[in-house]
Order: sequence, then C-alpha cells, then structure tokens
Amino acid sequence: IASPSSSNEERQGFSSRIGFILAAAGSAIGLGNIWGFPTQAAQNGGGAFLLIYLIMVFILAYPMLVAELTIGRLSQKNPIAALRNLSDNPTAKNFASLSGILGVCALSLILSFYAIVAGWLVSFMLEPIFSLLGMNAIADWLTGFSTSRNLVMMLVIMLLTIRVVQDGVSAGIERWSKRLMPALLILLVLLSVYILCQPGAMEGLELYLIPNFSQINADLMVSAMGQAFFSLSLGVTGMMVYGSYLAKKENLPATAAMVAGLDTFVAILAGLLIIPAMFVAQKNGVTIYAEDGSLLSSDTLVFTVLPAMFNTMGSVGPFIAIGFFTLLTIAAITSTISMLESPVNMACEQFNQPRKKMSWLTGGVITLISTIIVFNFGSLFGLVITITTVYAQPALAMVFGLLLMWVLRRDRLLKELQQGNPEIESSLFWKIWPWYVKFICPVMILVVFFN
Ligand code: PFF
Repeated sequence: IASPSSSNEERQGFSSRIGFILAAAGSAIGLGNIWGFPTQAAQNGGGAFLLIYLIMVFILAYPMLVAELTIGRLSQKNPIAALRNLSDNPTAKNFASLSGILGVCALSLILSFYAIVAGWLVSFMLEPIFSLLGMNAIADWLTGFSTSRNLVMMLVIMLLTIRVVQDGVSAGIERWSKRLMPALLILLVLLSVYILCQPGAMEGLELYLIPNFSQINADLMVSAMGQAFFSLSLGVTGMMVYGSYLAKKENLPATAAMVAGLDTFVAILAGLLIIPAMFVAQKNGVTIYAEDGSLLSSDTLVFTVLPAMFNTMGSVGPFIAIGFFTLLTIAAITSTISMLESPVNMACEQFNQPRKKMSWLTGGVITLISTIIVFNFGSLFGLVITITTVYAQPALAMVFGLLLMWVLRRDRLLKELQQGNPEIESSLFWKIWPWYVKFICPVMILVVFFN
C-alpha cells in the first residue's frame, strides 16, 4: 500500500492486515500490560480493578484508539501533517500542528524513560546466564542499581530500536513484530501454566479473579483509566503514525478492535502469571507485603520479589528467570520501536530527509535525553513519567479526538471509514462513536484531571 509522500522516498505501509495488527498490538502490549496492569490489579482489589479496567478500555480507550488511527489514515502522512489536514482554517491548522508537536515531544520523552526501564529488563535477562557461567562480578553489576549499568543497557535498547526502525515499516517494524509477538504469546502462556501449577498460586488467582467491590472508588477508576490510555499507546501520535500506514481497504473500527482485544487479552493473561507468582514467592518465604499491610511497590515486586522466588526454584529457577525477563524485554522492544517511528517519520517527511539518516539522528537526540535522565535519575525519572503519562497522554488524546470530531467535516470522516466498510453508515458504531468522542470522552477525561 505504497502512497506518495512529501519525501523523495516512496512512502511504504504495512504489507498485510495481520502485519498491521501485530505491529500495533506490539506497540500497545508492553510493560504497561505485563508489569503495570497485574501489579496495579493486585494493589487495587484484584478482580474489581480488572472489571473497571475492562469497562475503561471498552468505553473510553477503544473509541479514542479508532479516532487516532483514523486521523493518521485520512492523510497517510506523518502526525503533524495528518493533524493539519483535518481543517482548511489556518488557525485550526496551527493549533493542530502544535498538538502534534507536543504529542511527538511527549512520545520522545516516554521513549527516553522507557528505554531505561527496558534496559533493566535486559540486565535481569542476562544475569542468570552470567551467574550460571560463574561470572559473578558481571552478574552483580547487571542487577545492582548503578549509573553505568543504567547507561549501558539503555544504549543497548536504543541501538536495537534504531536498527529496526531504520529498515522501514514493512522490512523493519512489520518483520520484527511478526517474529516477536508470537514468541511473546508463547512465552507468556508457558510461564503462566508453569506458575499456576506451583504451590501458593491459587491464592493469587483468588485475589485476581474474585472482585472485592468495596475497593472500587474514584482513585481506582482514575488508575484504571490512566492504565488503559498508557496501554493502548494513546495521545502521543504513536498510533496515529501506524494508522497512516494502514491500507484504505481495511475496516478501521474492526481492525482497532482486534488491537484493543489483543492488548487486553495479554494484560489479563499477564495477571494470571504475575499475581499468582507473587503468592508462590510468599509460599517460598519471600516477603510480598510492606509493614503497613499493603503490597510492595510494583518495581520491588518485579526486580526483587520475583527474582528471589526464581532463586528458590532450584535448577529450573534460572531458566524460568531468563524466560520471564525475555518476555518483558520483547514486550518492551516492540513498544520502543513504535515510539521511535513517529518522530522519525515526522523528521523524514517534514524535512524531506532519508529514513536511515533521520532514524540515527532522532534516535541520537532521544538517547541524549535518556542519558540526561540517567545522570539525574533521582530528580528527573519520576518527573518525566508523571508529565508524560499522567498529564500529556490523556490531555492530548482528548485534543486529537476533539479535532477529529469538531474540525473535520462529517462527510469526509464517513467517506474515510466507508472505504473499508461500505455499510458503516447504518451501523451502530457510526450512530454512537462520533458524538461519543465529541462529547462523552472529553468529559470523562476531564473527570480524570480533576481527580
Ligand atoms: N502501550 C505501551 C505499554 O503498555 O507499555 C507503552 C506505550 C507505547 C506508550 C507506545 C505510548 C506509545 F506511543
């Protein structure tokens, strides 16, 4: 589905529907699913959180995902050009550009902290190998918190990400998504089955699947909403750029439903792995509760509790540990790839430059930002996460939705969606979605802000 672009290179898209679905699901499925969702669920009433999360994905995140993909596919251009394309009015165009620039900046910042965390996962994946080889000094360096470790492993992630993105959408992103996503699913299922067979697992399963409705409150709803936005990669142009590579003949709402469905499925499955694993760890003598009776923080659970449990599992322990951190690393890398694609595509098209050069240049700038965070970890790391995921993502997702529904002419929107689904005008989706994104979603997002 090549289409002309402002760049002198041919603009290439995904070569198949499944390629798009796996790449977009690769973007969505990340640390948010395998680490964030299960630990949040465990801390917020288990099944109650799961239930509210499912509602949030369905009523809020999915409609916004269709909106973002539609903006991209309408113009088949980079996010800034795509947002400008929504209106003919110069003021609206400038406002749209600004929101696009902010989105790309927020996304670059997300990549700059995400690459650090992904680096830790690679460290923990390599550690059992070095331990088995008796190279204990390296193993200790890998799992100890140090600026040098954080820097080196972040560089590894950034180099891998740039390598994939420089090869383009079908030869780089799509090819790797098709390899990594099935591997991720297989690993997740195998590990879940193994953990569920261990003593103590059923206690975790109970906490996860039996909802404790008394825990549902405003805070829980806010957490679930934020989690849904982060998980579906909304508000920061990552999905918009993937939408711009989707063929016109594809049914957009149905394809987006597949992506959201896969993302949610993996989050639920990850809950079946992580929450029981915490209780298996407890059975094996590892502390999982803090002194005040609450569960330990999510990073302690992943980097202290679970490795401690792997250590109690005898000779299979190191292999389970390698499998577990490989799973997290794969999930992280398919997400970092999607984060780099948007700024790279924008730089290529806006400045009419070749992809390879822009991949290294843009990736280099983001690596520099990440390096600054590594050296000022205490003051910057948490701050960048809060600014991007708590504020920028919901705010910008709301702006993108509003631009699509209030600025774009309704007949153009309908025509766009009819290309992949000629009957859409009479569907329930078309009756609800436009006014829903226009009125309801912004109100719900504002409610989050006031909380
Ligand atoms: N959705 C990813 C996760 O759940 O970890 C994170 C993410 C990817 C956020 C891509 C934003 C983005 F553009």
